[in-house]
Amino acid sequence: MSTAKKEYKRITTKTLVDMKSKNEKIAMLTAYDYTMAKILDNAGIDVILVGDSASNVMAGHETTLPITLNEMIYHASSVVRAIDRSLVVVDLPFGAYQSDPKKALRSAIRIMKESGGHAVKLEGGKEIKDSVKRILNAGIPVMGHLGLTPQSIYKFGTYTVRAKEEEEAKQLKKDALLLERLGCFAIVLEKVPAKLAEEVAKSLQIPIIGIGAGSGVDGQVLVTHDMLGMTHEFNPRFLRRYLDMFTEMTNAFKKYTNDVKNGDFPSEKEQY
Ligand code: KIV
Repeated sequence: MSTAKKEYKRITTKTLVDMKSKNEKIAMLTAYDYTMAKILDNAGIDVILVGDSASNVMAGHETTLPITLNEMIYHASSVVRAIDRSLVVVDLPFGAYQSDPKKALRSAIRIMKESGGHAVKLEGGKEIKDSVKRILNAGIPVMGHLGLTPQSIYKFGTYTVRAKEEEEAKQLKKDALLLERLGCFAIVLEKVPAKLAEEVAKSLQIPIIGIGAGSGVDGQVLVTHDMLGMTHEFNPRFLRRYLDMFTEMTNAFKKYTNDVKNGDFPSEKEQY
């Protein structure tokens, strides 16, 4: 067996900004565990987001609010162990940064030290600017998240498209500019009109990664379990399903059950 090490070009926050300047689109997906992260990294996904959507997808909560910092660190460290090339961004969970910039920095430091993640993501604009500033001052890269910010779902009351009205769109543009000026390396824009998202992407130097934000942005992100068709209940217009894993897996589990019950598994060849 060859011992020659494969050359991996690691993705950094600077790579992403360079990609934008070269008009190269950025592919980002979520992962919460080692095995999925290994497949994504091997497939050439540029950014792996350890999203607080783990709260829904992995733990079955209705919202992203219940997931804890310890749980995010557990998921992120499992992902980091799988990575050779992708940039790993970790969500700061609800309650870990909103109330106090010092607490925000302590939370971000725990993520970086205990999981080995490469950057953190925070939801919000001017209301969290002191937290963003403090984290950046400590040398920790920050990705912003504007538009539909699921940690504020009880304030919005609904998961519908944000910033359709002039006033909210104006505030979103100001927040995006503020995040860039503070030093964020990228921003996720979730569920906003495509025209607005494109305008924001064109007006900033840092990449805008969209989810339900149209094609005029610098990259796209989806929740991996949704794009694989493992989840069935969630059907927003922006979601493209690349597989129907729910059906594929159900069929495999049914076949296994039948094989066990009929005595077809294990066969002669599958035993010692
Ligand atoms: O938590 C998450 O998965 C996210 C993406 C939807 C952007 O924040």
